[in-house]
This record gives sequence, structure tokens and C-alpha cells, in this order.
Amino acid sequence: MVWARKYVLKKHYTGAPKLSDYELVQYELPALKDGEILVKAEWIGVDPYLRVYDSVFKVPYDQFGLQVAIVQESKDPDYPVATRVVSHKGWCDYSIIDTKAPVKEVPWDIFYKLPDLKGLSPSLGVGAIGMPGATAYFALIEVCQLKAGDTVVITGAAGAVGTVAGQIAKIKGCKVIGFAGSDIKVKWLENELGFDKVFNYKKVNIHTALKEAAPNGVDNYLDCVGGEISSIIISQMNTFGKVVTIGSISSYNADPSQLPKVTILQQYIVPKRLTIKGFVIWDEYKRWSEAFTNLINWIKEGKIKTPEHITEGFTNIFEAFSGMLDGENLGKAVVKV
Ligand SMILES: NC(=O)c1ccc[n+]([C@@H]2O[C@H](COP(=O)([O-])OP(=O)(O)OC[C@H]3O[C@@H](n4cnc5c(N)ncnc54)[C@H](OP(=O)(O)O)[C@@H]3O)[C@@H](O)[C@H]2O)c1
Repeated sequence: MVWARKYVLKKHYTGAPKLSDYELVQYELPALKDGEILVKAEWIGVDPYLRVYDSVFKVPYDQFGLQVAIVQESKDPDYPVATRVVSHKGWCDYSIIDTKAPVKEVPWDIFYKLPDLKGLSPSLGVGAIGMPGATAYFALIEVCQLKAGDTVVITGAAGAVGTVAGQIAKIKGCKVIGFAGSDIKVKWLENELGFDKVFNYKKVNIHTALKEAAPNGVDNYLDCVGGEISSIIISQMNTFGKVVTIGSISSYNADPSQLPKVTILQQYIVPKRLTIKGFVIWDEYKRWSEAFTNLINWIKEGKIKTPEHITEGFTNIFEAFSGMLDGENLGKAVVKV
């Protein structure tokens, strides 16, 4: 008999998520059937999309999310005990997975064996060699098709996607300019990760700072935050520039009926013939392993560093999630169960 714990969202968020929106539930898992495995979560990623997708479901629902888990008991010889897997089981410590269930819908049915990380930490399975890393990879390599000498701007630069993206852009020979939310993050991105210039968006005049850092304009923009900062960056794009918009975290906690207003963009998009593409990593799910192969090699070669903001303890998962939304993380926010 195995007792498991899970977080259930019992009340939709209003503004910033609160611990009282959740209930921690303990329950007994049934015995395994053929083709099933019992897994114990080791690393749980806390990601901004959990905040966004809250509106998709009726409460109560089990808090979904990506986790790396290790097989404890197995009724599938393809998944012996001690195999590591990635799934979307979310905020629970033990769970049962039907290994033969088809992946009908991503992210809900995500399930795969953790790739051979060649000695790297399994935690990277929810970070640089997981969904956020794949996002950085496909957004910049496939959508932007970076060329050496391009100027690339990244908002949310110190986060899970931004840190990987900035380093990929450096590998490709680009000039990389980042925006992040604290002076510590700014220094660290410049000194440790090799960004060419980073600004604390809370302190600088974005327009002037970017003009100084990119006097010849911006070729590619990885837009992680939306809002007015994005309008300002887009206003400084070069002809045929590419914007890949992956998120708008600056307004995730805003009242959806009263979203912030920003400067209109048509006056820049049209004359500069800009391409602005909305991108969702779930669409590339079948190709994640392609990204992982390259990312593992770059990490092993020392070309990509993989900072993590680790919170210890399953019952601290909400604090990790809330802290990430507040900008406490430098690199990927992850919980060590
Ligand atoms: N489309 C996709 O497939 C996809 C996949 C992954 C992620 N995303 C999106 O990409 C973005 C970054 O995700 P991530 O996983 O890498 O998260 P992350 O950057 O590791 O963590 C979130 C960060 O957002 C920043 N932030 C919070 N409030 C902000 C505000 N008002 N304005 C600007 N920045 C703010 C904080 O950093 P600061 O200290 O810098 O403020 C915080 O650390 C999110 O919008 C997420 O939804 C999209």
C-alpha cells in the first residue's frame, strides 16, 4: 500500500496565486496493473503556464505540471525499477503511470523516458533538457533562424527559457541583449552567461537603453513578457526582423477584463515588414529529442550553463511557484522533492 500526496487547486486564482487556493490531499494508490509503473517524483518544475492554464479547467483539479520521477515498482519490463521518466503528473509525490497510454494531447499526456543526460543532473529534465530548453531551442533556431552577427533581444532573460536562449544565441555568433528584473540578475547574465548587455527593466528607460546597446537595431526578439517593454523593443526592430512571442508574464496576474494597454505596433510592423510569430512548444513535442541532443552536447562542451533555483521539499512547492512568478528565481525554478 502506498500513500501519495497531491496538491488540488480548489479555487481559481484571483490576481497572484495563493496557498489557500490549494488543498494538500493524501490518498492511497491502488495496486499496479499490467503495463503500469509506480513512480516517485524527484524533481518538479514550476512553470508560468500553470498560472495561465488555470482558466482552462473547472476547479477542483489536480495541479498538473512537469516532473522527473523514478520508477519504484514496475509491471512493464521496458520500465524497470530505477528508470527515470518525465511526465505531466504535476504536484504529487507518488503516482501510477500507464506506460502504454497513447499521448493524445500535449501537455496533458506527456510521458517519456528521461534521455541519457550523460551524467548531468536529472533535474535538467524539467529545465534546460526539458520543456523550457526545447522552447529556447526551437524559438531561436527554427523560428528566428539566427545568423551570426544578428542582434538578439531577450526579455525574461534570467529565467528558465531566457538563460538557455541567450547562450544559444551566443553559440550562433549573435550579439545578445537581455532584460531582467534585478541588478544581481543583470550582473550574473553578463559575467557568468556571457550576455553582451543586460538591463534591469525596473530601473532603466527601455527606449534609451536599447538604443545605446543596439544602435543598429534589433534583428530578433524573444518575447517572454509582453506588455509595453515589448512594444518598445519591437519599435526598434530592423527591416525583416523576427519576433517570436512565447509568453506575456507581465500580465498573467492581471484581471483579464482589464488588461494593460500598450503602444500600438502596426506603425512598426508594416514599414519594417516584421514577422511576429506566436509559438507554443507543445506543437513541437514529437521533436523535443532533437533539441535535447543538441542541448546535452552544448552543456557537456561547456557552452551552455544550466543555473537552477532549487527549492527543497515537496510541501514547499507552492512557495517555489509563487516565488518564480515574483522573480525570485535565477535560472530554472525547480523543486527537489
Ligand atoms: N510558448 C511556450 O511554449 C512557452 C514555453 C515556456 C515558457 N513560456 C513563457 O516564457 C516566459 C518565461 O518562462 P520561464 O519558464 O522561462 O519562466 P522564468 O523566466 O524562469 O520565470 C518567470 C520570470 O518572469 C519574470 N517576471 C515576473 N513578472 C514579470 C513582469 N511583470 N514583467 C517582466 N517579467 C516578469 C520574473 O523575472 P524578472 O526578475 O526578470 O522579472 C520571473 O523570474 C513566460 O511568459 C512563459 O509563460 C512559453
